[in-house]
Amino acid sequence: MPPQQHLPNPLTLTLIVATTPIPPLRTTTTGEKVPCRLGIGQNGTLPWPRIKADMSFFARVTSRAPRAGTTNAIVMGRKTYDSVPRKLRPLGKRINVVVTRDVSGTVKEGVLRELEAKRAAAAAAATAAAANTTTTTTTSGSGGQETDAVVGSGLEEALDMLEKGYAAEGKLGSVFVIGGAEIYAAALRLGRERPVRIVVTEVEKTREEDGPFECDTFFPVDEELVMQKGWRKAGAKEVSEWVGENVEEGWKEEGEVKIQMVGYERLL
Ligand SMILES: NC(=O)c1ccc[n+]([C@@H]2O[C@H](COP(=O)([O-])OP(=O)(O)OC[C@H]3O[C@@H](n4cnc5c(N)ncnc54)[C@H](OP(=O)(O)O)[C@@H]3O)[C@@H](O)[C@H]2O)c1
Repeated sequence: MPPQQHLPNPLTLTLIVATTPIPPLRTTTTGEKVPCRLGIGQNGTLPWPRIKADMSFFARVTSRAPRAGTTNAIVMGRKTYDSVPRKLRPLGKRINVVVTRDVSGTVKEGVLRELEAKRAAAAAAATAAAANTTTTTTTSGSGGQETDAVVGSGLEEALDMLEKGYAAEGKLGSVFVIGGAEIYAAALRLGRERPVRIVVTEVEKTREEDGPFECDTFFPVDEELVMQKGWRKAGAKEVSEWVGENVEEGWKEEGEVKIQMVGYERLL
């Protein structure tokens, strides 16, 4: 009899995305009115001006590790990595996983150089803080979470690296796929054996008469998702459990925009 194979639980992927509806609306077979497209980007950046509530939600949720001694991973396409302001990347207290087809190694070199610079700056800041402190108390600063960056040649390869590295050592927290459109599409194409959730921040202008945001990049709306077939919408309580903080139902206004958080889970 062959030895029993140990099949590890596949990593749950949580896509985290902010979308804005692009008219016209169309009617599904179930009579639901849904936008034709969901905008996510414009000219290599976000289509809307900075939304503080959403940016801090993203930072908190992706940084908050589910267990002590673990670090969350954020998986992104090379263009999304480039869209992060240079001084912030790689994003702290997270494993930044950058996906690229670049075979020359230039992308990897650049990401690793930025990681080294970030680590050097953090070490210098820690030394300065230690020199300034008048007590002997020590703090972990990052709460045990690491700042790391790895480069993969595809989504599957990137997930494999996480599974064989951080997960095998028991150090991997949650895995968030943070975009852009190409990487969301790759995640939605993954086999059904991999659990997939989506946490969406819906963004709209408060004054409808101002028209939609200009967008040139769109969430690869899965037909099934729109039709709710093969997917289910999660309630606010459940989304709160996914993200580790209270998510209230309904719209919240911030200046000229309003946002609300909703969640979907793919049925296995
Ligand atoms: N609203 C939101 O929540 C949100 C979130 C993230 C991003 N965005 C926006 O989305 C836009 C960027 O999205 P995008 O779709 O243009 O780019 P993207 O998905 O961020 O990155 C695309 C790049 O990823 C690499 N890539 C993609 N598929 C791959 C595969 N199968 N194997 C290996 N490498 C692969 C390629 O990099 P190389 O070219 O290096 O080979 C490709 O050019 C920006 O405007 C950004 O601001 C919005």
